Amino acid sequence: MLKFLLNGETIEAEVGATETLLDFLRERRGLTGTKEGCNEGDCGACSVIVTGEDGVARAMNACILFMPQLAGRAVRTVEGIAGPDGALHPVQQAMVEHHGSQCGFCTPGFITTMAAAHKNGAKDHEDQLAGNLCRCTGYAPILRAAEAASRADVPDWMDDTALTAQAPYPMPESSDALAAWYADHPDATLIGGATDVGLWVTKQLRELGDVAFLARCTDLQQIEETEDGLRIGAACTITQVLDAMRDRHPSMAEMLRRYGSVQVRNAATIGGNIANGSPIGDSPPALIALGATLHLRHGETRREMPLQEFFVEYGKQDRAPGEFVEFVTIPNQRDTLKCYKLSKRHDQDISAVCGCFNIVVAGGSVARARIAFGGMAGTPKRALAVEQALIGKAWSEENMEAALPAFEKDFAPMSDMRASAEYRMQTAKNMLRRAYVESLGVPASVLEVQP
Ligand SMILES: Cc1cc2nc3c(=O)[nH]c(=O)nc-3n(C[C@H](O)[C@H](O)[C@H](O)COP(=O)(O)OP(=O)(O)OC[C@H]3O[C@@H](n4cnc5c(N)ncnc54)[C@H](O)[C@@H]3O)c2cc1C
Ligand code: FES
Ligand code: FES
Repeated sequence: MLKFLLNGETIEAEVGATETLLDFLRERRGLTGTKEGCNEGDCGACSVIVTGEDGVARAMNACILFMPQLAGRAVRTVEGIAGPDGALHPVQQAMVEHHGSQCGFCTPGFITTMAAAHKNGAKDHEDQLAGNLCRCTGYAPILRAAEAASRADVPDWMDDTALTAQAPYPMPESSDALAAWYADHPDATLIGGATDVGLWVTKQLRELGDVAFLARCTDLQQIEETEDGLRIGAACTITQVLDAMRDRHPSMAEMLRRYGSVQVRNAATIGGNIANGSPIGDSPPALIALGATLHLRHGETRREMPLQEFFVEYGKQDRAPGEFVEFVTIPNQRDTLKCYKLSKRHDQDISAVCGCFNIVVAGGSVARARIAFGGMAGTPKRALAVEQALIGKAWSEENMEAALPAFEKDFAPMSDMRASAEYRMQTAKNMLRRAYVESLGVPASVLEVQP
C-alpha cells in the first residue's frame, strides 16, 4: 500500500511497481488536467509538483515517475494550484493577464512548473521553463507572466508536508540495506530517478521483474566535503550535483544547467548517469577530466577504480550482478575545467559531442592535462594522445594546433542521427581551440560573443 498526499488529500492505494504517476492521475483519479504529450520526459505537459521530506517543492515529469517513488511525498497537480475558494494562484492570474495560453494543451504543465519555481523564489525563468514546450503561444508572454507572478507572495494553500513513508516495494533506506538486498537479488533492476528506466516502460513496454528504488536511500543522497575532495552519493540528483559544482567547477555547473530540464534534473541521479554506460551521458566526461574515482559495492565488498575504467565498451561496464555504484569522489584541485556541450537544441537536448578539458598551465607550459569526451566513441573516453601531445609543451597556439591530429589517434567517431563522424571530429578539435582561446580570456561562447 502506497501512502502519499495528493492536492492536500491523503491517498492510500495499491500501486504497480512501474505504474506511472501520469497514468494514476488520469486513469484512476480522473485528474486529466495533467497532460500526456511525449510520455518520455521531453515536453513538460505532465509536470507536477512533488514535495519531499526536506519540504522543497520540485517540478517533475509525471510520465516517467513511478508511483513507489512517491512514498511519503506530497504531489500537487494543476487541479490543486488554485485556492480552495477558487482564487487563482498568482501564476494563473499572470498567465491570464499576459495572454500566456492559446490552445491550452501545454498550459497545465507550465502552470505547475511556474508554481514550483514561484514557491522556491526562482527568478531564472528561462531555465525553469526550458523543459516545457509550447507550440502556439510563443514563450515571451509566458516568461512575462512568470516575471510578473514572481512579485506576489506564495499562497498559504501551497503548503505541503510530506507524510511518513511506507514502502510498497523494496526501498532500502541505507547503502547497507541496499547492498544486502541487491546481493540477494542480483538480477533486479535498481531505479534511481527513472529518467532512463521510465522510458523502458513507457516506450519499450518492458516488464522489469524485481526492482528496488533508491528514492529513500538517504546516505546515497549526500554530497560531502572530505579532506581529499568531494564525495557524491550515487543517488544524488543532477540538481544537487549542479548546486555543488557552482562554486567549485562553474563550467561543469553551466554544462549541467543544459542537462535535460529542471524536471529531469530533479529526478535523474548521478549514479544512473554513470551506471547506464551511455556514450553521450554528460557527467562522465566532466568527472573523468576531474580525475574522479568510482566506488562500487557488492554486499560487504567494496572496490574503486578511475571512472574511465568503468566503461569497457559500448553497452558493457565493469559491474558485476548485484554490484552497485555507491559514490563517486572528485579530488580537490584548483579549477581549470572547461566543459563544452554541443547539441542540436541549446536546452533540453542530449549531447552530440561533449568535451571536457582540465588543462593546468604552469610557467607558460602545460603541466597536466586530462581531457575526456562523450559522443566520440562507444563509451565516454579520455583523449590520451591529445593529452600527451600537449603535456610539457608551451601552451601556445602553435602547439595547440600541432596537437589536433592526435584526435585521430584517440577517436574514430560514428555517424548517427545526432551528427556525422566528420562533424564530430571537426567540432571536437574546435573545442580544444576554444579551450585555448578562452584560456587567454577571449569570450568564445555564443552567449558571450558580441557582434
Ligand atoms: C527528457 C530527458 C532528457 C535527458 N537529458 C539528458 C542530458 O541532457 N544529459 C544526459 O547525460 N542525460 C540525459 N538524459 C538521460 C538520463 O537523464 C540520465 O542518463 C540519468 O542520469 C539517468 O539517471 P536516473 O537516476 O534517472 O537512472 P535510472 O533511469 O533510474 O537508471 C538508469 C540505469 O542505471 C541503473 N542504476 C541507477 N542507479 C544505479 C546505481 N546506484 N548503481 C548501479 N546501477 C544504477 C539502473 O538500474 C538503470 O540500468 C535525459 C533523459 C530524459 C528522459
Ligand atoms: S508527457 Fe511529455 S514530459 Fe511527460
Ligand atoms: S498554448 Fe498551445 S501548445 Fe502552448
